[in-house]
Amino acid sequence: MIGCFDSGLGGLTVLARIRQLLPTADVVFFADQAHVPYGDRPHAELLELLRKNLAWLDAQGVDAIVMACNTSCAVAERYGWPVARAPILDLIESAAMAVERGEFRRVGVVATAATVGAGSYGRTLRARISGIDVVEVPAPALVPLVESGTIQGPIARAAVAEVCAHLPLDLDALIYGCTHYPVLEPHFAEILGDGVTLVDPAIVQAQRAAELLADASAGNGRTTFVTSGDDRAFRSSVNRMMSALPTMLATR
Ligand code: DGL
Repeated sequence: MIGCFDSGLGGLTVLARIRQLLPTADVVFFADQAHVPYGDRPHAELLELLRKNLAWLDAQGVDAIVMACNTSCAVAERYGWPVARAPILDLIESAAMAVERGEFRRVGVVATAATVGAGSYGRTLRARISGIDVVEVPAPALVPLVESGTIQGPIARAAVAEVCAHLPLDLDALIYGCTHYPVLEPHFAEILGDGVTLVDPAIVQAQRAAELLADASAGNGRTTFVTSGDDRAFRSSVNRMMSALPTMLATR
């Protein structure tokens, strides 16, 4: 069984990628919606939430923890990973692998304020790829929009445009450094144009999960969804997003 968690609905973009490659794996998905957005919280609190979430997934007996929250990975990269029994797949490492594969030289990273404040993307990318140019831009307005289902229309577009206005004009690629952002892809694509490749680290993350779990991935294809927030609202958001995401992700 795979364990996944995020602060909220963003992690479903990772789950959808996992489902494309591992349709029969059993997954337990935890959304810590009692604390969303993570990105506005201090690092010490985020580390404590990470420790609790890893311990909870371990207690479910998962074979691997496939991270679906960049903000948690960012604080772990900066301060060290809490101990966990199950192996952990780090989303920022997956992002770095995607950048290496794409041979991008000048990349932007849009992420939560806590992730940008940790500096983890810049450190990880510069350590792996010599001479790479990395610009990290915080986008705190986007997570609340996705959580509330405001992903189409002028409000979402204006919020994405505001973030993109802080990016340099000559990027090769833009990395979604937060798992909530890929659902806003039509806005990013329209605003940035064809010259900027949009990189979703969840693609490599799911490939790594498939490699790691080759033997242990056979199950019933069941996903157990758990939230620390409002269960009824969560279930209806999950249904809405899990039916929309496969079509959306297939177009990339
Ligand atoms: N989706 C998460 C991430 O990838 C957390 C966003 C938030 O809650 O601020 O960072």
